[in-house]
Amino acid sequence: MADRVVLAYSGGLDTSVGIGWLKDATGKEVVALAVDVGQGGEDMEDIRQRALGCGAVESIVVDAKEEFAADYLMPALKANALYQKTYPLVSALSRPLISKHLATTAKRLGADSVAHGCTGKGNDQVRFEAAVAALAPDLTSIAPVRDLALTRDKAIIYAEEHNLPIRQSAKNPYSIDKNVWGRAVETGFLEDPWNAPIEDLYEYTQDPSVFQEADEVVISFEAGIPVAIDGVPLSPLAIVEQLNAVAGKHGVGRIDVVEDRLVGIKSREVYEAPGAMALIVAHEALESLTLERDVNRYKRGVESEWANLVYDGLWFSGLKRSLDAFIDDTQRYVTGDIRLKLQGGRAVVTGQKSEKSLYDFSLATYDTGDTFDQSLSKGFIELWSLPSKIAARRDLAGE
Ligand code: ARG
Repeated sequence: MADRVVLAYSGGLDTSVGIGWLKDATGKEVVALAVDVGQGGEDMEDIRQRALGCGAVESIVVDAKEEFAADYLMPALKANALYQKTYPLVSALSRPLISKHLATTAKRLGADSVAHGCTGKGNDQVRFEAAVAALAPDLTSIAPVRDLALTRDKAIIYAEEHNLPIRQSAKNPYSIDKNVWGRAVETGFLEDPWNAPIEDLYEYTQDPSVFQEADEVVISFEAGIPVAIDGVPLSPLAIVEQLNAVAGKHGVGRIDVVEDRLVGIKSREVYEAPGAMALIVAHEALESLTLERDVNRYKRGVESEWANLVYDGLWFSGLKRSLDAFIDDTQRYVTGDIRLKLQGGRAVVTGQKSEKSLYDFSLATYDTGDTFDQSLSKGFIELWSLPSKIAARRDLAGE
Protein backbone atom coordinates (compact mmCIF):
# COMPACT_ATOMS: atom_id res chain seq x y z
CA MET A 1 0.00 0.00 0.00
CA ALA A 2 1.25 3.47 -0.86
CA ASP A 3 2.04 5.86 1.98
CA ARG A 4 -0.81 8.04 2.99
CA VAL A 5 -1.12 11.65 4.08
CA VAL A 6 -4.17 13.14 5.80
CA LEU A 7 -4.83 16.69 4.63
CA ALA A 8 -6.83 19.23 6.65
CA TYR A 9 -9.28 20.15 3.91
CA SER A 10 -11.33 23.35 3.76
CA GLY A 11 -12.87 23.00 0.31
CA GLY A 12 -11.11 26.15 -0.90
CA LEU A 13 -8.73 26.53 -3.84
CA ASP A 14 -5.44 25.92 -2.01
CA THR A 15 -6.35 22.70 -0.26
CA SER A 16 -8.27 21.40 -3.30
CA VAL A 17 -5.26 21.81 -5.56
CA GLY A 18 -3.13 20.67 -2.62
CA ILE A 19 -4.56 17.16 -3.01
CA GLY A 20 -3.03 16.58 -6.46
CA TRP A 21 -0.01 18.71 -5.69
CA LEU A 22 0.82 16.59 -2.62
CA LYS A 23 0.30 13.37 -4.54
CA ASP A 24 2.56 14.50 -7.40
CA ALA A 25 5.31 15.74 -5.09
CA THR A 26 5.35 12.92 -2.54
CA GLY A 27 3.77 9.91 -4.24
CA LYS A 28 1.46 9.53 -1.26
CA GLU A 29 -2.25 8.84 -1.37
CA VAL A 30 -4.19 11.78 0.00
CA VAL A 31 -7.02 11.47 2.51
CA ALA A 32 -9.04 14.68 2.88
CA LEU A 33 -10.37 15.56 6.33
CA ALA A 34 -12.82 18.45 6.71
CA VAL A 35 -13.58 19.43 10.29
CA ASP A 36 -16.75 21.37 10.97
CA VAL A 37 -16.06 23.91 13.74
CA GLY A 38 -19.08 26.03 12.87
CA GLN A 39 -17.50 27.89 9.96
CA GLY A 40 -20.85 27.87 8.19
CA GLY A 41 -21.10 28.59 4.50
CA GLU A 42 -20.98 25.55 2.25
CA ASP A 43 -22.65 22.23 2.89
CA MET A 44 -20.10 19.82 4.33
CA GLU A 45 -21.23 17.03 1.98
CA ASP A 46 -20.44 19.25 -1.03
CA ILE A 47 -16.99 19.81 0.44
CA ARG A 48 -16.54 16.07 0.99
CA GLN A 49 -17.46 15.29 -2.64
CA ARG A 50 -15.17 18.00 -3.98
CA ALA A 51 -12.15 16.42 -2.30
CA LEU A 52 -12.94 13.13 -4.07
CA GLY A 53 -13.34 15.01 -7.36
CA CYS A 54 -9.90 16.50 -6.78
CA GLY A 55 -8.30 13.08 -6.36
CA ALA A 56 -8.51 12.19 -2.67
CA VAL A 57 -8.63 8.43 -2.07
CA GLU A 58 -10.90 8.99 0.87
CA SER A 59 -12.80 12.02 2.10
CA ILE A 60 -14.02 12.43 5.66
CA VAL A 61 -16.17 15.07 7.31
CA VAL A 62 -16.26 15.42 11.08
CA ASP A 63 -18.89 17.46 12.85
CA ALA A 64 -16.80 18.71 15.76
CA LYS A 65 -18.95 21.67 16.77
CA GLU A 66 -20.09 20.37 20.16
CA GLU A 67 -16.63 19.06 20.94
CA PHE A 68 -15.11 22.39 19.95
CA ALA A 69 -17.50 24.31 22.20
CA ALA A 70 -17.21 21.98 25.19
CA ASP A 71 -13.49 21.16 25.13
CA TYR A 72 -11.90 24.25 23.61
CA LEU A 73 -14.21 27.26 23.96
CA MET A 74 -15.26 26.56 27.54
CA PRO A 75 -11.66 26.32 28.81
CA ALA A 76 -10.97 29.58 26.96
CA LEU A 77 -13.96 31.19 28.67
CA LYS A 78 -12.86 29.94 32.09
CA ALA A 79 -9.53 31.61 31.30
CA ASN A 80 -11.25 34.81 30.03
CA ALA A 81 -8.72 34.32 27.26
CA LEU A 82 -7.79 37.43 25.30
CA TYR A 83 -4.42 37.59 23.55
CA GLN A 84 -2.87 41.04 24.02
CA LYS A 85 -6.01 41.87 26.03
CA THR A 86 -8.06 42.01 22.83
CA TYR A 87 -8.20 38.87 20.69
CA PRO A 88 -10.36 35.94 21.88
CA LEU A 89 -8.13 33.38 20.09
CA VAL A 90 -10.69 32.38 17.45
CA SER A 91 -8.28 30.61 15.06
CA ALA A 92 -5.84 29.62 17.79
CA LEU A 93 -8.56 27.53 19.45
CA SER A 94 -9.65 25.60 16.36
CA ARG A 95 -6.15 24.51 15.28
CA PRO A 96 -5.48 22.09 18.15
CA LEU A 97 -8.90 20.51 17.64
CA ILE A 98 -8.34 20.05 13.89
CA SER A 99 -4.84 18.73 14.62
CA LYS A 100 -6.24 16.19 17.05
CA HIS A 101 -8.59 14.89 14.36
CA LEU A 102 -5.73 14.86 11.83
CA ALA A 103 -3.58 12.80 14.19
CA THR A 104 -6.30 10.30 15.14
CA THR A 105 -7.37 9.87 11.51
CA ALA A 106 -3.76 9.36 10.43
CA LYS A 107 -3.27 6.70 13.12
CA ARG A 108 -6.54 4.99 12.25
CA LEU A 109 -5.77 4.82 8.53
CA GLY A 110 -2.09 4.02 8.90
CA ALA A 111 -0.93 7.30 7.35
CA ASP A 112 2.61 8.43 8.07
CA SER A 113 2.00 12.14 7.63
CA VAL A 114 -0.49 14.99 7.82
CA ALA A 115 -0.78 18.20 5.80
CA HIS A 116 -2.33 21.65 6.07
CA GLY A 117 -2.78 24.58 3.70
CA CYS A 118 -1.04 27.32 5.70
CA THR A 119 1.59 29.66 4.34
CA GLY A 120 4.94 30.12 6.01
CA LYS A 121 4.10 33.53 7.43
CA GLY A 122 1.40 32.89 9.97
CA ASN A 123 0.68 31.38 13.35
CA ASP A 124 -1.56 28.61 12.13
CA GLN A 125 1.27 26.53 10.59
CA VAL A 126 2.95 26.55 14.00
CA ARG A 127 -0.24 25.58 15.80
CA PHE A 128 -0.99 22.65 13.48
CA GLU A 129 2.50 21.24 13.54
CA ALA A 130 3.20 21.82 17.23
CA ALA A 131 -0.10 20.15 18.15
CA VAL A 132 0.53 17.16 15.87
CA ALA A 133 4.08 16.83 17.27
CA ALA A 134 2.68 16.77 20.80
CA LEU A 135 -0.01 14.20 20.01
CA ALA A 136 1.70 11.92 17.51
CA PRO A 137 5.46 12.55 17.50
CA ASP A 138 6.05 10.02 14.71
CA LEU A 139 3.89 11.82 12.13
CA THR A 140 5.48 14.18 9.62
CA SER A 141 3.77 17.47 8.77
CA ILE A 142 3.73 18.73 5.19
CA ALA A 143 2.59 22.19 4.13
CA PRO A 144 2.13 22.22 0.31
CA VAL A 145 1.68 25.98 0.10
CA ARG A 146 4.84 26.58 2.11
CA ASP A 147 7.05 23.51 1.47
CA LEU A 148 6.00 22.58 -2.07
CA ALA A 149 5.76 26.17 -3.37
CA LEU A 150 2.09 26.09 -4.24
CA THR A 151 1.26 29.72 -5.00
CA ARG A 152 -2.19 31.03 -5.79
CA ASP A 153 -1.35 31.60 -9.48
CA LYS A 154 0.03 28.07 -9.81
CA ALA A 155 -3.05 26.72 -8.05
CA ILE A 156 -5.40 28.39 -10.54
CA ILE A 157 -3.43 27.03 -13.50
CA TYR A 158 -3.28 23.55 -11.96
CA ALA A 159 -7.02 23.55 -11.29
CA GLU A 160 -7.75 24.53 -14.90
CA GLU A 161 -5.31 22.05 -16.44
CA HIS A 162 -6.65 19.19 -14.34
CA ASN A 163 -10.24 20.24 -14.70
CA LEU A 164 -10.80 20.22 -10.95
CA PRO A 165 -14.37 20.72 -9.73
CA ILE A 166 -13.70 24.08 -8.13
CA ARG A 167 -15.99 27.03 -8.61
CA GLN A 168 -13.54 29.77 -9.53
CA SER A 169 -15.06 32.68 -7.67
CA ALA A 170 -13.69 36.19 -8.03
CA LYS A 171 -10.67 36.48 -5.81
CA ASN A 172 -11.75 37.41 -2.33
CA PRO A 173 -9.38 40.19 -1.30
CA TYR A 174 -9.33 39.02 2.31
CA SER A 175 -7.96 36.04 4.14
CA ILE A 176 -10.78 34.88 6.38
CA ASP A 177 -10.91 32.22 9.05
CA LYS A 178 -14.09 31.58 10.98
CA ASN A 179 -15.71 29.29 13.43
CA VAL A 180 -18.42 29.48 16.06
CA TRP A 181 -16.20 31.55 18.40
CA GLY A 182 -15.71 34.31 15.82
CA ARG A 183 -14.28 35.51 12.55
CA ALA A 184 -10.83 36.76 11.59
CA VAL A 185 -10.32 38.98 8.55
CA GLU A 186 -6.92 40.02 7.27
CA THR A 187 -5.01 41.23 4.17
CA GLY A 188 -6.34 43.36 1.28
CA PHE A 189 -6.72 47.06 2.02
CA LEU A 190 -6.57 46.26 5.76
CA GLU A 191 -2.81 45.83 5.42
CA ASP A 192 -2.59 49.61 5.83
CA PRO A 193 -3.54 50.09 9.50
CA TRP A 194 -4.62 53.66 8.70
CA ASN A 195 -7.48 52.32 6.57
CA ALA A 196 -10.65 52.02 8.59
CA PRO A 197 -12.62 48.78 8.26
CA ILE A 198 -15.70 48.95 6.06
CA GLU A 199 -19.11 47.45 6.83
CA ASP A 200 -18.66 44.77 4.11
CA LEU A 201 -16.02 43.04 6.22
CA TYR A 202 -18.47 41.95 8.84
CA GLU A 203 -20.74 38.95 8.82
CA TYR A 204 -21.44 38.08 12.47
CA THR A 205 -22.18 41.63 13.63
CA GLN A 206 -24.39 44.51 12.58
CA ASP A 207 -23.26 48.12 12.57
CA PRO A 208 -23.37 49.20 16.25
CA SER A 209 -23.89 52.84 15.30
CA VAL A 210 -27.34 52.08 13.84
CA PHE A 211 -29.84 52.47 16.66
CA GLN A 212 -31.56 49.35 17.95
CA GLU A 213 -33.68 48.79 21.04
CA ALA A 214 -31.50 47.18 23.71
CA ASP A 215 -31.75 43.46 24.42
CA GLU A 216 -31.26 41.95 27.83
CA VAL A 217 -30.13 38.39 28.51
CA VAL A 218 -29.55 36.50 31.73
CA ILE A 219 -26.71 33.98 31.50
CA SER A 220 -26.55 31.28 34.18
CA PHE A 221 -23.19 29.73 35.00
CA GLU A 222 -22.26 26.58 36.89
CA ALA A 223 -18.64 26.21 37.96
CA GLY A 224 -17.53 28.70 35.31
CA ILE A 225 -19.51 27.17 32.45
CA PRO A 226 -22.60 28.86 30.97
CA VAL A 227 -25.52 26.45 31.24
CA ALA A 228 -28.65 28.48 30.46
CA ILE A 229 -29.89 31.66 28.80
CA ASP A 230 -32.96 33.31 30.31
CA GLY A 231 -33.55 30.17 32.34
CA VAL A 232 -33.51 27.82 29.34
CA PRO A 233 -30.83 25.11 29.71
CA LEU A 234 -28.59 24.88 26.64
CA SER A 235 -25.38 23.17 25.55
CA PRO A 236 -22.20 25.27 25.38
CA LEU A 237 -22.49 25.29 21.58
CA ALA A 238 -26.11 26.47 21.63
CA ILE A 239 -25.23 29.20 24.13
CA VAL A 240 -22.41 30.53 21.97
CA GLU A 241 -24.62 30.40 18.86
CA GLN A 242 -27.52 32.14 20.56
CA LEU A 243 -25.29 34.88 21.94
CA ASN A 244 -23.63 35.31 18.55
CA ALA A 245 -27.06 36.12 17.16
CA VAL A 246 -28.28 38.51 19.85
CA ALA A 247 -24.94 40.21 20.66
CA GLY A 248 -24.10 40.26 16.95
CA LYS A 249 -27.29 42.16 16.26
CA HIS A 250 -25.96 44.93 18.53
CA GLY A 251 -22.47 44.95 17.00
CA VAL A 252 -20.83 43.57 20.14
CA GLY A 253 -17.30 42.16 19.78
CA ARG A 254 -15.84 44.03 16.84
CA ILE A 255 -12.07 44.19 17.24
CA ASP A 256 -9.49 46.01 15.12
CA VAL A 257 -5.91 45.54 16.22
CA VAL A 258 -2.27 45.37 15.18
CA GLU A 259 -1.16 42.06 16.63
CA ASP A 260 2.18 40.41 17.35
CA ARG A 261 2.44 37.13 15.51
CA LEU A 262 4.58 34.33 16.87
CA VAL A 263 6.72 34.43 13.71
CA GLY A 264 7.79 38.00 14.46
CA ILE A 265 5.51 39.93 12.11
CA LYS A 266 3.09 42.60 13.28
CA SER A 267 -0.17 42.19 11.43
CA ARG A 268 -3.40 44.16 11.20
CA GLU A 269 -6.37 42.03 12.15
CA VAL A 270 -10.09 42.63 12.20
CA TYR A 271 -12.15 40.24 14.29
CA GLU A 272 -15.75 39.87 15.25
CA ALA A 273 -16.66 37.64 18.14
CA PRO A 274 -20.00 38.73 19.58
CA GLY A 275 -20.88 35.66 21.63
CA ALA A 276 -17.33 35.22 22.90
CA MET A 277 -16.98 38.81 24.07
CA ALA A 278 -20.41 38.86 25.74
CA LEU A 279 -19.59 35.62 27.56
CA ILE A 280 -16.20 36.84 28.75
CA VAL A 281 -17.72 40.06 30.14
CA ALA A 282 -20.35 38.04 32.01
CA HIS A 283 -17.94 35.38 33.26
CA GLU A 284 -15.44 37.93 34.51
CA ALA A 285 -18.17 39.74 36.45
CA LEU A 286 -19.29 36.53 38.11
CA GLU A 287 -15.69 35.83 39.11
CA SER A 288 -15.44 39.26 40.72
CA LEU A 289 -18.51 38.38 42.76
CA THR A 290 -17.43 34.90 43.83
CA LEU A 291 -13.62 34.69 43.92
CA GLU A 292 -11.52 35.73 46.88
CA ARG A 293 -9.60 38.91 46.21
CA ASP A 294 -6.18 37.28 45.94
CA VAL A 295 -7.41 34.43 43.73
CA ASN A 296 -9.08 36.90 41.37
CA ARG A 297 -6.00 39.09 41.21
CA TYR A 298 -3.57 36.20 40.70
CA LYS A 299 -5.81 34.58 38.10
CA ARG A 300 -5.66 37.65 35.84
CA GLY A 301 -1.93 37.01 35.42
CA VAL A 302 -2.48 33.31 34.76
CA GLU A 303 -5.07 34.20 32.13
CA SER A 304 -2.64 36.25 30.10
CA GLU A 305 -0.04 33.45 30.31
CA TRP A 306 -2.73 30.97 29.18
CA ALA A 307 -3.68 33.17 26.22
CA ASN A 308 -0.04 33.54 25.20
CA LEU A 309 0.52 29.77 25.27
CA VAL A 310 -2.57 29.03 23.23
CA TYR A 311 -1.82 31.80 20.76
CA ASP A 312 1.70 30.39 20.40
CA GLY A 313 0.45 26.91 19.49
CA LEU A 314 1.14 25.20 22.83
CA TRP A 315 -2.39 23.95 23.56
CA PHE A 316 -1.05 20.43 24.16
CA SER A 317 1.77 21.32 26.54
CA GLY A 318 2.71 20.67 30.12
CA LEU A 319 2.43 24.28 31.21
CA LYS A 320 -0.98 24.70 29.60
CA ARG A 321 -2.20 21.55 31.38
CA SER A 322 -0.95 22.84 34.72
CA LEU A 323 -2.51 26.27 34.21
CA ASP A 324 -5.80 24.54 33.35
CA ALA A 325 -5.64 22.70 36.66
CA PHE A 326 -5.26 26.00 38.51
CA ILE A 327 -8.03 27.66 36.51
CA ASP A 328 -10.41 24.73 37.01
CA ASP A 329 -9.84 24.85 40.75
CA THR A 330 -10.76 28.56 40.81
CA GLN A 331 -14.07 27.86 39.10
CA ARG A 332 -15.72 25.76 41.82
CA TYR A 333 -17.79 28.70 43.13
CA VAL A 334 -18.27 30.54 39.83
CA THR A 335 -21.94 29.71 39.81
CA GLY A 336 -24.73 32.24 39.42
CA ASP A 337 -26.58 34.58 37.09
CA ILE A 338 -25.36 37.59 35.16
CA ARG A 339 -27.71 39.98 33.39
CA LEU A 340 -26.27 41.68 30.32
CA LYS A 341 -27.61 44.63 28.41
CA LEU A 342 -26.64 44.56 24.76
CA GLN A 343 -26.70 47.75 22.75
CA GLY A 344 -24.51 50.01 20.62
CA GLY A 345 -21.58 47.61 20.37
CA ARG A 346 -21.40 46.98 24.11
CA ALA A 347 -22.30 44.18 26.46
CA VAL A 348 -22.81 45.76 29.88
CA VAL A 349 -23.40 43.90 33.13
CA THR A 350 -26.57 45.22 34.77
CA GLY A 351 -27.18 42.53 37.38
CA GLN A 352 -25.28 39.83 39.19
CA LYS A 353 -26.24 37.26 41.79
CA SER A 354 -24.87 34.03 43.15
CA GLU A 355 -25.56 31.58 45.96
CA LYS A 356 -21.79 31.51 46.31
CA SER A 357 -21.41 35.29 46.33
CA LEU A 358 -18.79 36.81 48.61
CA TYR A 359 -20.59 40.14 48.44
CA ASP A 360 -21.89 40.80 51.96
CA PHE A 361 -24.50 43.53 52.12
CA SER A 362 -24.10 44.10 55.83
CA LEU A 363 -20.36 44.69 55.39
CA ALA A 364 -20.72 46.85 52.27
CA THR A 365 -23.63 49.06 53.22
CA TYR A 366 -23.28 52.67 54.36
CA ASP A 367 -26.85 52.55 55.66
CA THR A 368 -28.24 51.10 58.86
CA GLY A 369 -27.47 47.43 59.27
CA ASP A 370 -23.75 48.05 58.87
CA THR A 371 -21.83 45.31 60.69
CA PHE A 372 -18.36 46.45 59.68
CA ASP A 373 -16.40 47.63 62.72
CA GLN A 374 -14.72 50.80 61.45
CA SER A 375 -12.64 51.15 64.60
CA LEU A 376 -10.53 48.18 63.45
CA SER A 377 -9.30 50.09 60.40
CA LYS A 378 -7.20 52.48 62.46
CA GLY A 379 -4.89 49.76 63.80
CA PHE A 380 -4.88 47.93 60.47
CA ILE A 381 -3.55 50.99 58.67
CA GLU A 382 -0.89 51.56 61.36
CA LEU A 383 0.58 48.12 60.67
CA TRP A 384 -0.04 48.16 56.92
CA SER A 385 1.95 51.37 56.53
CA LEU A 386 4.60 50.52 59.13
CA PRO A 387 7.25 49.32 56.61
CA SER A 388 6.81 52.50 54.56
CA LYS A 389 7.01 54.65 57.69
CA ILE A 390 10.26 53.02 58.85
CA ALA A 391 11.81 53.33 55.38
CA ALA A 392 10.74 56.95 55.10
CA ARG A 393 12.41 57.78 58.42
CA ARG A 394 15.67 56.33 57.15
CA ASP A 395 15.43 58.03 53.73
CA LEU A 396 14.58 61.43 55.16
CA ALA A 397 17.33 61.22 57.81
CA GLY A 398 19.91 61.03 55.02
CA GLU A 399 18.85 64.35 53.45
N1 ARG B 1 -4.11 36.36 13.48
C1 ARG B 1 -5.04 35.40 13.95
C2 ARG B 1 -4.33 34.27 14.62
O1 ARG B 1 -3.17 34.12 14.42
C3 ARG B 1 -6.00 34.96 12.88
C4 ARG B 1 -5.44 34.00 11.88
C5 ARG B 1 -6.45 33.78 10.82
N2 ARG B 1 -6.05 32.75 9.92
C6 ARG B 1 -6.22 32.83 8.61
N3 ARG B 1 -5.81 31.83 7.91
N4 ARG B 1 -6.76 33.87 8.02
O2 ARG B 1 -4.91 33.54 15.37
